[in-house]
Amino acid sequence: MNKSMLNWAAAGLLVSGLALSTGSLADGGDAEQGRIKAYTCTGCHGIPGYVNAYPNYHVPKIGGQNYEYIVLALKAYKNGERQHPTMVAQAGSMTETDMEDIAAYFVSLEGGEPEAELYQKGDVAAGETKSVVCQACHGADGNGIDPQYPRLAGQYGDYLAHSLKAYRSGERNNVVMAGFATTLSDQDIHDLAAFYAAKEGLVDLKIK
Ligand code: HEC
Ligand code: HEC
Repeated sequence: MNKSMLNWAAAGLLVSGLALSTGSLADGGDAEQGRIKAYTCTGCHGIPGYVNAYPNYHVPKIGGQNYEYIVLALKAYKNGERQHPTMVAQAGSMTETDMEDIAAYFVSLEGGEPEAELYQKGDVAAGETKSVVCQACHGADGNGIDPQYPRLAGQYGDYLAHSLKAYRSGERNNVVMAGFATTLSDQDIHDLAAFYAAKEGLVDLKIK
């Protein structure tokens, strides 16, 4: 083998190494490590009905959330696209491996039930009609057509409304969702939140 062939071989190895590391995002992460690392998260995400203060809304359910979306959400807190003081602090100290392990654990949690208490500010049937435009990504049932999109099914209605308002105001910075949220009225937001909250899906965090 001459020298240039060796270089090609090295480049080939490098390329296949890169392909492996991006490919692993879909199912990478060690759920058992994630279970241990997620222990502190239960203090908020593991208490059913726990409410964030100022502004008041339920701490989101993250059990059963889609793998890639969890990693993306944690990165968004780390890089400043999303602002919540506790979550920025939590994600700020995580490595990519921590995020993947935690996501692998969360995605393994099942057993969701629709919110027993309907989100009173919105109308489920009106929300269903308005959700047609959302289906392309979030699916007809709110479970997401691809792991990069969040599951909305079974999420707390007031958290969903809070998120949509944050996209609308630009406080939560995401180009795709900003495009959809700016056209929504307050009533649209409440109806959509009521519709997705009434579906079966996400669960509060449980450390088994
Ligand atoms: C002090 C309470 C608290 C603790 C502790 C906490 N979180 Fe959160 N978390 C929140 C709140 C409140 C939000 C919603 C913030 C917002 O509006 O962006 C959130 C949002 C999230 C989201 C985004 C959910 C979504 O649907 O977009 C993820 C993922 C998350 N937390 C993971 C974690 C992990 C992992 C830990 C532990 C390492 C953790 N959280 C610890 C309160 C907490
Ligand atoms: C083209 C794809 C697409 C469409 C259509 C779409 N979304 Fe989204 N949605 C996304 C993506 C991507 C995210 C995650 C953005 C981020 O990282 O903040 C998201 C996030 C959300 C969130 C935040 C969830 C959470 O856990 O914090 C809500 C709520 C939401 N979308 C509701 C809607 C509603 C309601 C509609 C229809 C009016 C809609 N979306 C249409 C792609 C889409």
